[in-house]
Amino acid sequence: MATENIIKIKNVTFTYPDTKQPAIDNISFNIKRGTWTAIIGHNGSGKSTIIRLINGLLVPDNPEEASIEVDGFELNNDSVWDIRNKVGIVFQNPDNQFVGATVADDVAFGLENRGVPREEMLKIVPEAINAVGMADYTNSEPSSLSGGQKQRVAIAGIIAIKPKIIILDEATSMLDPEGRNKILQIVHQMKKEYGLTVISITHDIDEASLADQVIVMNDGKLIDQGSSSEIFSQTTLLKKLGLDVPFFEQVKDMLLERNINIPKTVNSEKELINFLCQLNSNK
Ligand SMILES: Nc1ncnc2c1ncn2[C@@H]1O[C@H](COP(=O)(O)OP(=O)(O)O)[C@@H](O)[C@H]1O
Ligand SMILES: [Mg+2]
Repeated sequence: MATENIIKIKNVTFTYPDTKQPAIDNISFNIKRGTWTAIIGHNGSGKSTIIRLINGLLVPDNPEEASIEVDGFELNNDSVWDIRNKVGIVFQNPDNQFVGATVADDVAFGLENRGVPREEMLKIVPEAINAVGMADYTNSEPSSLSGGQKQRVAIAGIIAIKPKIIILDEATSMLDPEGRNKILQIVHQMKKEYGLTVISITHDIDEASLADQVIVMNDGKLIDQGSSSEIFSQTTLLKKLGLDVPFFEQVKDMLLERNINIPKTVNSEKELINFLCQLNSNK
């Protein structure tokens, strides 16, 4: 089961009305169940658009050739509601996502929709609100919250429903590093606990470098995909696309310029520090 693809995207092209260039230009990729995928690419490269296609908010230009499959269901008019039940998306702009009059109502909404019994809801809602550090705001109006607080509430709403797939579309961009790490830890825990599949669209290169798989997009095209070490070691490509390079890869590059070769097995800041410490102690 571990190698089964939970998402299969094939030959998808999509153009917004009244625009010439396709926002998504013949994209294909697969995502394995229970893995963490980071999608990176500069603004306007089509990252949010591909997400809207995955849950059927947008429909490909080329239905004959294109196919989108989620958890064994081919996306079409009949399956779209089942698929939306499996995929929890935290959109880029949380303002468009609120439906409840209070934070608690809002987090409860997705559970109500799924027919979760009231006694269970009374347990799950405060747990989810607590997990994102918003317990003090349980009865606040979502519109009165700051951008970062809105992001936390939107994430609580998704955590509560325990979907099979979570998609975070720059969902922690307004949080400080500490708040962001806390949310990422919760999602990592869910991945471990019940095999959640995670797609995270992020500009946080250090977060992306921890993913199982990285997809690089540029101008509606999928430029590259691979393990984070395969992608982030291509510092020249990333720079050419105007993307950040993780700090430890920059250090590796600088060391190489000074003829200190770092083995391919060193793929994180921690491993790099260990390697350098040993290098020194061997002298
Ligand atoms: N509603 C829309 N109408 C027309 N063009 C859009 C719309 N949304 C996005 N686009 C265009 O589609 C392209 C991809 O956008 P988007 O998927 O939002 O990129 P990203 O999420 O990578 O920043 C961009 O050129 C953007 O201007
Ligand atoms: Mg976007």
